Parts: sequence; structure tokens; C-alpha cells
Amino acid sequence: NKVVLAYSGGLDTSVIVPWLRENYGCEVVCFTADVGQGAIELDGLEKKAKASGACQLVVKDLKEEFVSEYIYPCLRAGAVYERKYLLGTSMARPVIAKAMVDVAKEVGADAVAHGCTGKGNDQVRFELTFYALNPELKVVAPWREWDITGREDAIEYAKKHNVPVPVSKKSIYSRDRNLWHLSHEGDILEDPANEPKEDMYMMYLEIGIVAGVPVSINGRDLSPASLLAELNEIGGKHGIGRIDMVENRLVGMKSRGVYETPGGTIMAAAVRELEALTLDRETMQWKDVIALKYAELVYAGLWFHPLRQGFDALMEKLTATTTGSVTLKLYKGSINVASRKSPYSLYREDISSFENGEIYNQVDAEGFIRLYGLPTRVRAMLEKGL
Ligand code: ARG
Ligand code: SIN
Repeated sequence: NKVVLAYSGGLDTSVIVPWLRENYGCEVVCFTADVGQGAIELDGLEKKAKASGACQLVVKDLKEEFVSEYIYPCLRAGAVYERKYLLGTSMARPVIAKAMVDVAKEVGADAVAHGCTGKGNDQVRFELTFYALNPELKVVAPWREWDITGREDAIEYAKKHNVPVPVSKKSIYSRDRNLWHLSHEGDILEDPANEPKEDMYMMYLEIGIVAGVPVSINGRDLSPASLLAELNEIGGKHGIGRIDMVENRLVGMKSRGVYETPGGTIMAAAVRELEALTLDRETMQWKDVIALKYAELVYAGLWFHPLRQGFDALMEKLTATTTGSVTLKLYKGSINVASRKSPYSLYREDISSFENGEIYNQVDAEGFIRLYGLPTRVRAMLEKGL
């Protein structure tokens, strides 16, 4: 039998390879998804995987799929978890897990394994995706089974099994990087009273948007992944999108995390700004209510749940006219809007102007206020005994 392991080449997943062979007597196919975590993490991976005892390494470039089918739906929905978190890790897990299900089929594996700890959200996201897409796969989560408890243990286990210990200096933080974000958790951040250890120029950026998702920068059309990479570059220089928060994990505990989402923060600001022109009041208010639940579903690993898929169909409908362009000014970590335009704008200067026009008659307001205020008058009359 064979198992497909979500593999990064770090110490933990390197140790999982011999551990799986020893404890399950199976062949291990390592799988690495390119979700834009960067070249350093992908370099020399095949040699490394084989040296750990894997029979094969499969690498898939999921960048465009990640941005267009996972990031853009969340962006269009306006999904933000607990007021701050732009869901960078939460969106990446289902795209990786889905690819693992495909690889398992391709190589004839009956099991999948991941290196998430038993204390986090990621384990839930991986496994709910496996359940949703192939309920017959066996799932192995070594961190919940073995007695390796820390880095020293893991190094010792690696040496005993002749697995080269990855030379990359292990950061003190638990990090997760992809095209959308870079997260930091652990170590000194575990005390929420500790400040994380911090600038820039000014520039204008015009983002073109079609149906709620970005398509161009300064008039240049780009694919979703290259557009995001470029905004990360620009946003990073200006210190945009740094988030420091205490969040509620699905498994009950509170956790302190720091996130860098430069391009994502710019995209989210641009889309929201354009919506101010293209959405009416009812739509905007309900969209925000649903965005909250949408974000919770994504955070909780329920990407392949019919409710999220239903919400997504609604979001697609609601944002069909969110097309146009937004010009933003980035300065020392802040994003300010300079201009917005849309062929579907609901804003009409002839109505909104302080000059009197034809369509809006101020005399109508008197009757409107009388009826709209009827409940208010009735209550006041009751209180005054009238
Ligand atoms: N707290 C965030 C989330 O749950 C980030 C998790 C980062 N994951 C990691 N394996 N370092 O989505
Ligand atoms: C982990 O525990 O594997 C990382 C943190 C998380 O999943 O929330």
C-alpha cells in the first residue's frame, strides 16, 4: 500500500517519511504544491524527499488555480475572519488537499498523510477536504500519534533513520507562506502583550476590476497569480497589510498570529471601494452579513460544503456589475482611495448634487419622514400618555 504525504522538505515532514514506512509499512509518495511559497522552499526537493525514503516526489503548480478558484471567490465575497484575518492559510489547505486526492488516484494510493499538529486548524481543513472529495481515503496524522514532541526529538529520530536533517535554519516562528500571505505564530508571539519586531514611498496604483475580481494593474492585463505577485511586491515595499491579532481556533483555543498580506489587502480595498459605486444598500448590507459566515466556513475547513458553494453562486450574481477601476495611493502602510469609476455606477451626480434637479423632489421627503417615523411617533405618544 501507498500513502501520499503533504511534503514541504522541512524537518517535520522529512521525519514523517521514515515514520510512515516504519509504522505503516507503506511506500511514501511525497507531494508538494506550488502555491507561491517561493523558490527557496522548492529547490532540491526531489533529492531531499528520496533521501528521506520517499519512492517518488510529485510537484504541482497550483498558483493560478489557487488564485482564481480559491482566493478570488473569497475576495469577491469580502470574506474576513474575526474582523482582521484574510484567510491566507485557510484558503490554501483545500486547494492542496484536493490535489492530494488527485495524486492519490494517479499513483494508486489508498491513504493520505499530513504534518499538521493536533492543536491547530490545518488538520481540520485537510481532513474535511479529504472527506468531501474521497471519503474512502485513509488519513494518517503522525503528530496525533507519535511521541516525538519537539525539535530535538525529531532531529534524533532523523539521525537514527539516516535522514539528512534539513540545513535550513529553523525559524523560531511557525510560518506559512503562499502567494496571498505569510503568517507567523509561536515563540515570542505567544504572549499577545509582546510587540512583533518595522516603511516607504508613495505611489498611485490603478486596479482594473471585472465582476468583483481584479484583472489589471495600471492598464496592464495580468493573470490572477502574476497580478497578485506584482501587488505583493508593491505592497510589501509600502508596509501594507500587516495584521497582528488574537484569533479563536476551531479547536477551541485562542491563538496569537501575525500576518503579512500586502497584495491581498490592496485587492480587498479596491474591490470594496468599487462596490460602493455598484451595489445598492440592501445588497451591500446582506453581502456583508453573508461574508462573515462565508469567512467562518472557509476558516473551519468547510470549503467543499454546499453552503459555501451556494453563497458563492450568490456572490457571483451580486458582483456581476462590480466592474470598473479604482486608483489607490499607498503611503507608509496606509491605502487611500484617489478615484473610482464604473460603467455600472449607481451614483448619479444629477441626483446627489446639492443643486436642485428633476428626479429628486425635496417635497417628497416630508411625507417619507412622516411615514418612516410613524413607529417613533407612536412610541413617544405612548410614553407621554397622549
Ligand atoms: N491561524 C491561521 C489559520 O488558522 C494561520 C495558520 C498557519 N498555519 C501554519 N501551519 N503555520 O488559518
Ligand atoms: C498546526 O497546528 O499544524 C498549525 C497551526 C494551525 O493549523 O492552526
